[in-house]
Amino acid sequence: MLFEISGLTKRFDGLTAVSDVSFSIAQGDIVGIFGPNGSGKTTLLSLIAGMLTPSTGRIVWKGKEIQGHKPHDIAAAGVVKTFQNPQLFSELTVFEHLMIAGHLMLKRRLGWRRIATLFNTDTGQAGGDLEARAREVLRLCRLEGSRDQTAGVLSYGEEKMLGVAMALMCEPQLLLLDEPASGLGQSEIDSLEIVLRDLRAHGMTLCIIDHKVGFLGKLADRAISLHHGAKIAEGTPAEVLSNEHVIAAYLGR
Ligand SMILES: Nc1ncnc2c1ncn2[C@@H]1O[C@H](COP(=O)(O)OP(=O)(O)O)[C@@H](O)[C@H]1O
Ligand SMILES: [Mg+2]
Repeated sequence: MLFEISGLTKRFDGLTAVSDVSFSIAQGDIVGIFGPNGSGKTTLLSLIAGMLTPSTGRIVWKGKEIQGHKPHDIAAAGVVKTFQNPQLFSELTVFEHLMIAGHLMLKRRLGWRRIATLFNTDTGQAGGDLEARAREVLRLCRLEGSRDQTAGVLSYGEEKMLGVAMALMCEPQLLLLDEPASGLGQSEIDSLEIVLRDLRAHGMTLCIIDHKVGFLGKLADRAISLHHGAKIAEGTPAEVLSNEHVIAAYLGR
């Protein structure tokens, strides 16, 4: 199995935000995790990406335990999280944001190479390769038309897509997305869906969280539902969405 977590728990003082969660993700899957606000979704992704250290439990990536490792080490190993609302520099262009993300990635990689799954270029060489990758990422994210626009003039949908694009500069093998569709209009959600399916077609594995069920229900191969930090259902999206515990959680009963 590409990725596996078992017994993952995170306590904040008196509150258990993630409670004994176990699941696995197979190569090439799109896994959707949903649950109402406050159900522990962002905490779960932050634990996986290394922004938080679990209280107990294991996170295994390609056979190695990574729980408690630093975010940059986890990212360099191929597990990258996008932010719900990316922090952008309003004066810098879309392309400049990608180059910054790429430089940070090269720096943290400290010289070691990994065979690129997404890009055909040999990514071990800096400079020109970084630009080539930025162009490929722009194409994948349908951001070519905004390449030279400053972040300050982007629509909210373009801002969020730029957050995804910056994560892609790190060459993730497992991409973790925190509510990528939130705040988007229907046409933006449709193009997001095309981009995410395209990434999967390029060999990427995706784990997406959302509190709304519509978008993820269509996109995900497998679904997991969280409630009060615990996994309450797992299966196909249709199975999970018809699960009585899931329905009760959403209706607040
Ligand atoms: N750093 C923190 N310190 C204390 N409590 C937190 C912290 N982060 C999240 N929580 C709490 O953990 C619970 C789950 O939060 P979160 O993971 O953000 O949920 P979701 O992303 O599903 O909305 C919430 O009750 C939230 O208030
Ligand atoms: Mg959240």
